[in-house]
Amino acid sequence: MKHEAVLIVDFGGQYDQLIARRVREHQVYCELRPYTITLDEIRAFDPIGIIFTGGPSSVYDDAAPHIDPGVFELGVPILGICYGCQLMAQALGGAVTPAQDDSAREYGKTYTYFDTNCRLFKGLPAESVTWMSHGDYMAKVPDSFTLAAHSDNCPNVAIADEARGFYGVQFHPEVNHTEFGRDMLKNFLYEVCRARGDWTMEDYKNSAVASLREKIGDGKVLLALSGGVDSSVAAALLAEAVGSQLTCVFVDHGLLRKDEGDQVEAAFAPWAINFIRVNAEERFLSKLAGVAEPERKRKIIGEEFIRVFEAEAKKLGKVDYLAQGTIYPDVVESGTGDAAVIKSHHNVGGLPDYVDFKEIVEPLRLLFKDEVRQLGRELGLPEYLVSRQPFPGPGLAIRVIGEVTKDKLDTLREADFIFRDEVAKAHLEGTMDQYFAVLTNMRSVGVMGDGRTYDYTLALRSVTTSDFMTADWTRIPYETLDAVSTRIVNSVPGVNRVVYDITSKPPSTIEWE
Ligand code: XMP
Repeated sequence: MKHEAVLIVDFGGQYDQLIARRVREHQVYCELRPYTITLDEIRAFDPIGIIFTGGPSSVYDDAAPHIDPGVFELGVPILGICYGCQLMAQALGGAVTPAQDDSAREYGKTYTYFDTNCRLFKGLPAESVTWMSHGDYMAKVPDSFTLAAHSDNCPNVAIADEARGFYGVQFHPEVNHTEFGRDMLKNFLYEVCRARGDWTMEDYKNSAVASLREKIGDGKVLLALSGGVDSSVAAALLAEAVGSQLTCVFVDHGLLRKDEGDQVEAAFAPWAINFIRVNAEERFLSKLAGVAEPERKRKIIGEEFIRVFEAEAKKLGKVDYLAQGTIYPDVVESGTGDAAVIKSHHNVGGLPDYVDFKEIVEPLRLLFKDEVRQLGRELGLPEYLVSRQPFPGPGLAIRVIGEVTKDKLDTLREADFIFRDEVAKAHLEGTMDQYFAVLTNMRSVGVMGDGRTYDYTLALRSVTTSDFMTADWTRIPYETLDAVSTRIVNSVPGVNRVVYDITSKPPSTIEWE
């Protein structure tokens, strides 16, 4: 069954992916496509509605991105946001100019007054806060449009052509700062585009399974399973679709967290797939012996991973498909967005060169991370796998500072487990996006019972972040830090001191190496 779909035309705005997520949250499928999309492609997409995103340009610039004006003749409702609003106004006979003075330029939270007879604002308060970010001004609104919202500085914050279902807003309804932004998008989808809301994970799962079956036929599929969320959900979806035709190679490099390897294996036990777990701990540790430099560790692990995977793949002979857990944010590029990139998975860089296969399948390439997690739940994967925090490809090797040994890894595994366990007991997972222990290579003096100790210092790290590019250290309650520290020094041999890392990123990074 074909889903009803909204087309989001990408003009390079910074919130474009957020618009797509918001639309899907309202259970309407959508895709972001670059503004270079042709009219024929739009017709083939057959959208129930179109959204023009914001963008960094000014519509009157020579090089400004435009769209085929035939889009206004398709009889499909359009919502223009910020740049998208100005573009629509200009294309339909209005005029856009640079704001004459600072008062007409609006940035940030702006008190806005709405005409609640307009379908976009139906059922919402007549006054609320919106989030603006525009330096251009609609000097003339196209004839067929009426004004649907204003602010103290700007008479035309929103414009509407109800008959054609065209709406333009100068603010960003997709960001949280716009108080009723979600409701406005919902109104566009349900009041204007008459959406039914058929995008549910159960439907998605069923249609993805059906289309994978059709595509793969009786072919063989190979997938490198890391145990992370994306590759696990991709594996589960393929397992559901083609069962024993799927081979998952799970390279356990011995650098995983406590019990993680067994958990991954157990999670896939319900499916009759060919699950190959390669216990390669010794191989990795012997390659890492004597190596202290972080980038060198990464390189060794990456290369070794490929070798191990390659050896397993060779045993299988030719496969038809190589599956990857690429997700939508990996695929979409802003603005011109023409390059659909194939994820160079952290551990699997260059992999396709090593394996004899016909084609790549990426069954998650239309999903956002939170949708991937939802799909994982729908497929029956356990919660500990589905809601797993990010874990670096090189694993604990970059959390043991300096040389990596089996003893140090075991010490770290135990301490890291205690940290995670106490966080779970205190119900703090929701306040942190990544949290883990680091075994420093510093030793210091302590006292235990009557004896003096000279043991390692263990560091705790927890960050709160939305994009992992910048991050703040998490304000963990003292009681929890106390419980973690006490339990670790009492039960993990070799550790006599625990410290908490209170630096943000930048200037630090999230990992220590
Ligand atoms: P940093 O330490 O650079 O980490 O602030 C940002 C995010 O990236 C993860 N990370 C890695 N992931 N291979 C990976 O797959 C790596 O070598 C690697 N190094 C860092 C880190 O865990 C954090 O989520």
